[in-house]
Amino acid sequence: MALYAQTGLVLGIESSCDETAAAVVRGGGEMLSNVIASQVALHAAYGGVVPELASREHLRNIVPVVQAAMNQAGVRLSELDAVAVTEGPGLAGALLVGIVYAKTLAFGLGKPLVAVNHLEGHIHAVLMEARRKGDMPAEFPLLALVVSGGHTHLYLAEAGTGGAEIWRYRNVGRTVDDAAGEAYDKVAKLLGLGYPGGPWIDELARYGDAGAVKFQFNPIKPRPDASAESTRFDFSFSGIKTAVLRYVQTHGMGDANERRRALLAQSPELKSPQVATLTDERTLNLIASFQGAVVGNLLRQTFAAAEAFGVRGVLVSGGVAANRELRARFTAEAARRGLPVAFPGPALSTDNAAMIAAAAWPKLLAGEFADDAMVAAPQLRLG
Ligand code: KG4
Ligand code: ZN
Repeated sequence: MALYAQTGLVLGIESSCDETAAAVVRGGGEMLSNVIASQVALHAAYGGVVPELASREHLRNIVPVVQAAMNQAGVRLSELDAVAVTEGPGLAGALLVGIVYAKTLAFGLGKPLVAVNHLEGHIHAVLMEARRKGDMPAEFPLLALVVSGGHTHLYLAEAGTGGAEIWRYRNVGRTVDDAAGEAYDKVAKLLGLGYPGGPWIDELARYGDAGAVKFQFNPIKPRPDASAESTRFDFSFSGIKTAVLRYVQTHGMGDANERRRALLAQSPELKSPQVATLTDERTLNLIASFQGAVVGNLLRQTFAAAEAFGVRGVLVSGGVAANRELRARFTAEAARRGLPVAFPGPALSTDNAAMIAAAAWPKLLAGEFADDAMVAAPQLRLG
């Protein structure tokens, strides 16, 4: 353990969705490089990720991205202690590019390969900083909310036996339909805003009145595969997306949305303050109300679960964790309850490979390596 803590250089590779990413992390905490080739511009024209295009871009990007990560870290391939790669969940063809590359590299170098669950990666994005400072959470259980474009999950995390850093997870809540980030993206698309929609709504919500439109979340029917008890902390975001659509239709906002879409297509350099001045009050209020309702729902479910399971702290990660209102409200609510809450830095909230290298760290220490038979696991679950 001591040997790795001084050296412990892991190259992380992530290609589960629309970012080709590579990073070198030392000791699971010290980020030496974190390179991301984003495909956002490519997929923006379609308002969402096109799987075939994503795979092709990963193929194009993987070699230069890994090279850039090694160069920026100032590390030679021969100095690595392991190669870590996202095994799943994600798009099959996208995952495959990272996995084949990582396997080949590890084999060629004679280094161990570590397979990482993308969702656990998001949790380790929060833990990197703690590990670097030497203040990893010591009290369990913890509750982790992973909230992104593809996922909305609540995990109860316990330390492994003997306080080991390999944690055990129990999935105590998840979305039964859309992920929260997906709702952000779809509502933004409806309103003629850019892709991804989360950052646009985050910015524009500041200009509206969150109390203007009342959205309500109806009770969620228990999943067919689970008891009512075990689905108490589930989420549903497709209803609010439909409610926004209905509001737009009944208030005749369609034409203004199309004009906004055309304007942004014509002038992609426009930033949110300019867009805000060109946007009517009703739309700004709708945006603020949508965000207020989504964040409020995430907050209520998370803290209800935190209370039910008597957790000792809350971790929030994934793309939507970059949201400023979410951070402010979670921080205030946690303080009110005297509960520690932690987020990754905004840049590590969205997909990156540093979190994959960090999540590989405890596995490397425990000698938990992937074998040659490892394949992409698009539906991989955590807990
Ligand atoms: O974690 P991530 O990069 O990819 C997935 O694993 O899904 O998350 C991307 C999602 C997108 O839906 C994007 O709209 C959302 O995170 N997002 C945000 C913000 N930044 C990104 N949502 C709300 N507020 C933000 N500031
Ligand atoms: Zn993600």
